[in-house]
Amino acid sequence: MGRISRRDALCVGAGAALFASAAYGADDESLHKLAAAKGLSFGSAVGAGPGGLAGSFSDARYRALLLRECGVLVCENEMKWYALRPNAQTFDFARADLIADFAKANGLALRGHNLLWHSAKWSPAWLNAFDFGSSPASTAEALVKTHIERVCARYPQIRSWDVVNEAVDPETGALRETSVSKAMGEGVLDLAFHVAREAAPNAELVYNDYMSWGAWSDKHRAGVLRLLEGFKKRGAPVDAVGLQSHISAPEYIGAAEEKDWRTFLDDIVGMGLALLVTEFDVNDVRAAGSAAERDVRVATSARRYLDLVLSYPQTKSVLAWGLCDRYSWLLANDKRSDGAPLRPTPYDADYRRKPLREAIAAALRSAPSRSAT
Ligand code: XIL
Repeated sequence: MGRISRRDALCVGAGAALFASAAYGADDESLHKLAAAKGLSFGSAVGAGPGGLAGSFSDARYRALLLRECGVLVCENEMKWYALRPNAQTFDFARADLIADFAKANGLALRGHNLLWHSAKWSPAWLNAFDFGSSPASTAEALVKTHIERVCARYPQIRSWDVVNEAVDPETGALRETSVSKAMGEGVLDLAFHVAREAAPNAELVYNDYMSWGAWSDKHRAGVLRLLEGFKKRGAPVDAVGLQSHISAPEYIGAAEEKDWRTFLDDIVGMGLALLVTEFDVNDVRAAGSAAERDVRVATSARRYLDLVLSYPQTKSVLAWGLCDRYSWLLANDKRSDGAPLRPTPYDADYRRKPLREAIAAALRSAPSRSAT
């Protein structure tokens, strides 16, 4: 897959219209239009990585699909520390700029993901090994502050930021530790929100995580609620919670699961916070059957989940973590025992619509209108 130049990226608009009219009926409604009719927004992640699964942006058909279906884009990896920060001194904005410029040139909104991924596993090696010197707390504070200020200033078009990502350890519900939190304490999480508010005063500030319903996620949900209550008590400016929503099929949301998830969402909205679905996909690694049968299971799980989450008027947007199976991150992570490729996104590897696309459309069509609330 060849790299795409900035010029090519910006010129794709006309091609997108052709692709759209050739592949779909003219009366067809995009997911973004269906969402917008309800006061919601719909979008997807896109990656400008060097080829491979994360390189969807270099594929003109993928860009055309983004333009057709989305009102908002989010960089899959390009705004993370490990992508933006080769070291403590410098920033490399090139790949993130490609996507940001493409969004701007085509009138799409951009979400920011993320300003602080509070996890050693996902921190750059240099940061994990960083020498914070004789005043570790102030050195750590300055490093985080400079990062957030520079990145927010670079992308003023971003009106919704995942400020802190995955701070809670799902096994224990406690906060994770990173080199930065060892240097300055857990106050780094509050600091991130305060600095983001200053640096991006018009942006919605989001805590984003992957907790789910069910007993296996009890500690994760409880830990997230504790963290949110702490933010509120201490006056950290958090506006919303990002529900990553990497769900699975078959994963029946019966009465017990629904009760679990609603209790959690009720607690969040009870704190005055909004909700977003930030990284939606449906993993079929354990779903039985042929591709067609799995597609139906995936769509069924999706519909149940989206209906539930969209029944909350506080849910303002739905973002898919990729639109086309060819580029799903899950392909690199999970392998089915029968060796068949995963089918977790709304379009198959050849850009054909799947039942999942129709399930998302149906959920958006039947969602209560946000403006009515
Ligand atoms: C994933 C990307 O999709 C992969 O390409 C990358 O290798 C790892 O990160 N939660 C998040 C996202 O907040 O940033 C993750 O994205 C998926 C899980």
